[in-house]
Amino acid sequence: MITNTISTNTASYLALEDLYGAHNYHPLPVVLEKGEGVFLWDVDGKRYYDFLSGYSAVNQGHCHPAIIKSLVDQAQKLTLTSRAFHNNLLGHYEQFITQYFGYDKVLPMNTGVEGGETAIKLARRWAYAKKGVAENKAKVIFAEGNFWGRTLAAISSSTDPSSYKDFGPFMPGFDLVPYNDTIALEKAFQDKNVCAFMVEPIQGEAGVVIPDEGYLQKVRELCTLYNVLFIADEIQTGLARTGKMLACDYENVRPDILILGKALRYYDEYSPRRTWI
Ligand SMILES: Cc1ncc(COP(=O)(O)O)c(C=O)c1O
Repeated sequence: MITNTISTNTASYLALEDLYGAHNYHPLPVVLEKGEGVFLWDVDGKRYYDFLSGYSAVNQGHCHPAIIKSLVDQAQKLTLTSRAFHNNLLGHYEQFITQYFGYDKVLPMNTGVEGGETAIKLARRWAYAKKGVAENKAKVIFAEGNFWGRTLAAISSSTDPSSYKDFGPFMPGFDLVPYNDTIALEKAFQDKNVCAFMVEPIQGEAGVVIPDEGYLQKVRELCTLYNVLFIADEIQTGLARTGKMLACDYENVRPDILILGKALRYYDEYSPRRTWI
């Protein structure tokens, strides 16, 4: 529990950030120093349960020995190759993850929001190369209440003023429909320039909004019917965070483009391998 009394030690760290850091975020007044598994300790030695897990980026817990070992082993062997060269690990990773999820290709990124940006770039290119959309006319549809990050593209599709206010002008070629509304979606798909619908199977930041049963199946059906790519943003829901490997698995639908993010590692206790993947 976070109490109202702030020690002078904690206050000194807060003051430093206040003075020298940009005021773009408003964290809780807790200054963390150490973590182990589900626990965190602040600079006063007070222990907390970590119910946030770095917004899901450390679902595997803090300082897991197997992950630390991989990091140290790699850091001692080779620092960085960049994409100017090949390396001995990338292909194995690409083979594993594409086969695991049943997709043709993967493109790794540094963050989830870059995953979203890349999915949109891919959809736009597909619109011009395959669907026959005239150059610069491609449209992507999003659901109201979406959250996929804070880049200029991501806030351009946002309906939350705390994300987009004072940051315009915004990215063209984006349209919105209400979440969980396939009638509105079908209407939006009448526009031949629509190349993709990007949607969270369960909306996360909007407040964990679960759509009606059959929504994802209908989305799949409409996307196929109107030749529109179904992009599933499973950054918050994927990798068994809602019980099944993907939230789309609840309705047995397969998106054309799947975006995964945050902690990509998890313990596969349900497979006979019972191992970290
Ligand atoms: C559904 C969803 N998509 C995308 C993102 C962006 O991921 P990242 O913070 O790794 O850029 C988030 C972040 O919380 C998210 O919840």
